[in-house]
Amino acid sequence: MSRSASIFVCSGCGHESAKWHGRCPGCEEWDCLVEQPRAPVDRGRGAGGAGRGARPLVPVALGQVQAPKVARLSTGVGELDRVLGGGLVPGSLVLLGGSPGIGKSTITTGALGNLAAAGRRVLYVSGEESAAQVRLRAERLGAGALSVPIVAETDLDTVVATLEAERPEVCVVDSVQVLHAAALTGAAGSVGQVREVAGRLMGVAKRLGVAVILVGHVTKEGALAGPRVLEHLVDCVLSFEGERERTYRTLRALKNRFGSTNEAGVFEMRDEGLVEVEDASARFVAEATRAPGSVVLCAMEGSRPLLVEVQALVAPTELVPPRRMANGVDRNRLALVLAVLARHAGIGVGSADVFVSLAGGVRVDEPGADLAVALAVASAVKGVTLGGGARPLAAFGELGLTGELRHAAHPDRRLAEARKFGLEGVLCPGDGLPSLRAALGRALGEASPAARAA
Ligand SMILES: Nc1ncnc2c1ncn2[C@@H]1O[C@H](COP(=O)(O)OP(=O)(O)OP(=O)(O)O)[C@@H](O)[C@H]1O
Ligand SMILES: [Mg+2]
Repeated sequence: MSRSASIFVCSGCGHESAKWHGRCPGCEEWDCLVEQPRAPVDRGRGAGGAGRGARPLVPVALGQVQAPKVARLSTGVGELDRVLGGGLVPGSLVLLGGSPGIGKSTITTGALGNLAAAGRRVLYVSGEESAAQVRLRAERLGAGALSVPIVAETDLDTVVATLEAERPEVCVVDSVQVLHAAALTGAAGSVGQVREVAGRLMGVAKRLGVAVILVGHVTKEGALAGPRVLEHLVDCVLSFEGERERTYRTLRALKNRFGSTNEAGVFEMRDEGLVEVEDASARFVAEATRAPGSVVLCAMEGSRPLLVEVQALVAPTELVPPRRMANGVDRNRLALVLAVLARHAGIGVGSADVFVSLAGGVRVDEPGADLAVALAVASAVKGVTLGGGARPLAAFGELGLTGELRHAAHPDRRLAEARKFGLEGVLCPGDGLPSLRAALGRALGEASPAARAA
């Protein structure tokens, strides 16, 4: 009987089995067997001793290790380069994750188009779409994208052979979940397959110095087998976020061996592809509604300040318990802000639905958003427009459980950004505002009586 080329290994206890089981025979956990290639038989190893023919290595001081400075490859997409830490590093493996339809293929095709136009050798491996489909997208993106060489293939061995023959400097694999390694029997996209595909491509990337961008799908919960299991393997994990129905999308680095993970880029999906939004703050401030329930938040997107409108709606309801909807801010953070508002500022929303949303589909995951959310809710409850003058009110700061206002990172950058767009009198920690109550006093005190809606 022929030995199969793969075995199934329990990711918990390490139990090996020739067949797949739903439940591990070793530790009796469910759904933990992962397929992997059978290791070559090594007969020479004795227990504890060195293997046959193995010679010891001589360690070298790090200072003496040869590390030639390599120039990064600019993708021509400024925001992408910034998130990568200054461009693609040759020979690196980048994982670009995002939910379906967010624009992963669009941004990678655009980047390859720019690289090709700059005289770089590039290759686009499309497993999901036919070459004709990719061409249709490239037509939208312009002349540079049309010069990108493409292969439509899902067999891993063929892709590796093509890479070896073509030796591109940058290669995009769209997506890692559809490539199939013939050595394993599992379906494409299974944990074993995805790991094997990424492992083999990494070997090729390092050996030939090809920068490989792996595209991967993540479900809303980020749970799908695939990208998550690769995070430790690749050099850089980028996440493309946003909602398909909204125009703005954010690109963030979750892990980067060659740069900071604090950077984020903002894009807008247009006819001609993803366009970088360099002046996102200007847009959001101009679009701010200036109605009761609206406050401008001075947020930080990585090392870059961003002004974004927070909107709140408070409406009476018969529902028990009432609804608490948060779009772009953390739900638990909203619950905390509502509790602090009720307990320390006397503004309760007990039997009302509360909706809080950030404009343009932006997501802010920092506690510095608390004060702006609290002010927006208070403004919605009271039915007054905050800010008084012609410009909207801006705020930032974290709320403590005792109602105190706490320091948020990079206050000077946030204030400078607000000033740049003509927002004065920003409510923030320090500045004589020790608590939420004091901030509310100032915000509501300044609300113009004419603006009182109720
Ligand atoms: N003509 C157009 N004008 C504006 N936006 C468009 C146009 N055509 C497509 N789009 C946008 O592009 C998105 C699809 O982009 P893309 O194919 O790059 O996404 P993806 O992340 O690769 O998706 P998938 O997960 O299916 O591979 C659509 O959701 C749509 O919003
Ligand atoms: Mg795609």
